[in-house]
Amino acid sequence: MPLVTTKEMFEKAYDGGYAVGAFNVNNMEIIQGITDAAAELKSPVILQVSKGARSYANHTYLKKLVEAAVEEHPEVPIALHLDHGADFDICKSCIDGGFTSVMIDASSHPFDENIEITKKVVEYAHDHGVVVEAELGTLAGVEDEVNVSAADSSYTRPEEVEEFVSRTGCDSLAIAIGTSHGAFKFTADQCTRNADGILVPPPLRFDVLEECIKRLPGFPIVLHGSSSVPQEYVKMINEFGGEMPDAIGIPEDQLREAAKLAVCKINIDSDIRLAMSAVIRQYLAQNPSHFDPRQYLKPAREAVKDMVSHKIVDVLGSNDKI
Ligand code: G3H
Ligand code: 13P
Ligand code: ZN
Repeated sequence: MPLVTTKEMFEKAYDGGYAVGAFNVNNMEIIQGITDAAAELKSPVILQVSKGARSYANHTYLKKLVEAAVEEHPEVPIALHLDHGADFDICKSCIDGGFTSVMIDASSHPFDENIEITKKVVEYAHDHGVVVEAELGTLAGVEDEVNVSAADSSYTRPEEVEEFVSRTGCDSLAIAIGTSHGAFKFTADQCTRNADGILVPPPLRFDVLEECIKRLPGFPIVLHGSSSVPQEYVKMINEFGGEMPDAIGIPEDQLREAAKLAVCKINIDSDIRLAMSAVIRQYLAQNPSHFDPRQYLKPAREAVKDMVSHKIVDVLGSNDKI
C-alpha cells in the first residue's frame, strides 16, 4: 500500500487499547531496522523526520528511503510524519514534499498564537489530504537546538484542550504529562531511590492525561519524549569509552498503561540512538582493525530492529494489528 495518514491507525489504536510507535529516522539503517521489525510483528508504524534529520540527510533522500521501505513491506501501514515543525513554512514544505502527516509545534507561543499558527497549518494540510498533530504544554529536555529546563517546562492544562482542538481542527494532540526529550530526562534530585539504590523518576501525571481524555472523548493523544533509556545500553556505552552518567528515561510500564488509554502515538528516538551507539562502540572496541562501515552498521541495524520489536510488543501493544 502507499504511505498512509495516521487517521485510520489512530482510530484502530484508540479502540484497540494500543499505541502506534513513532520512530525518528535519519538514515537507511534506521529505516530498515524499524520497518523490518514492524513487518515481522505485523504492526503499523510512523516514521518521523525532524528539522535536524532533514538538514543531515536531506528531505529527498529520506523520502526516497522511506518509499523503498514501503515497496519492501507493502503490507505495513507506514505514515511519514514531520516531527516538531516549528512554523508554517516547514510544514508546507513537507506537505508539498509528500509527507502524510505533520506536527506543528507552536507550544512555546502563547495560547492564542499557538491556535492561530496551528489553524493555518491545519487548513493547508487538510486541503492536501495530510493530517496534523499539534502540541499544548511544554516538555523538558533537548529537541533540535532548543533545550527546555525542567523549570521552564509546563504540564498541559486540561481546561484548555477542548477549545484548542475545536478552534484549530488538529487531528491529534501532544500533551505534556512529565515525559521529556533526550537521554537525560531527570536529574538525581528529581528522582527517588528504590531499595536497590536505583534512581526512580517521578511518575507520569496520569491525572492530567485522564482529565484531557475526559474533555476530548475519542480524540488521539500523543506522547513525546517517551524513550526509556535502557540501562543495559547506557552501561555498554560507558564500558566502551562513552560517558553518559545518570542517563535516565521513562519507565516502560507507565507507557504501556498510557497506550491502553487514549494515547495513540508514542515517540521514541533516544532509545534507538543509544542502542546504535552502544553496539557500534562495542563492535569497534572488540574489532580494532575493522574499518568497513558495513561491519559495524550491520549490528547497529540489528539493534534498532531488536529495540523496535521490543517496543512494539512490550510497550505499544501494536503487534498483530494489520
Ligand atoms: O524530539 C526530537 C527528536 O528526538 C529529534 O531529534 O532534532 O536531534 O533530530 P533531532
Ligand atoms: P525521546 O528523546 O524520549 O526519544 O523523544 C523523542 C521525541 O519525542 C521525538 O519527537
Ligand atoms: Zn518530541
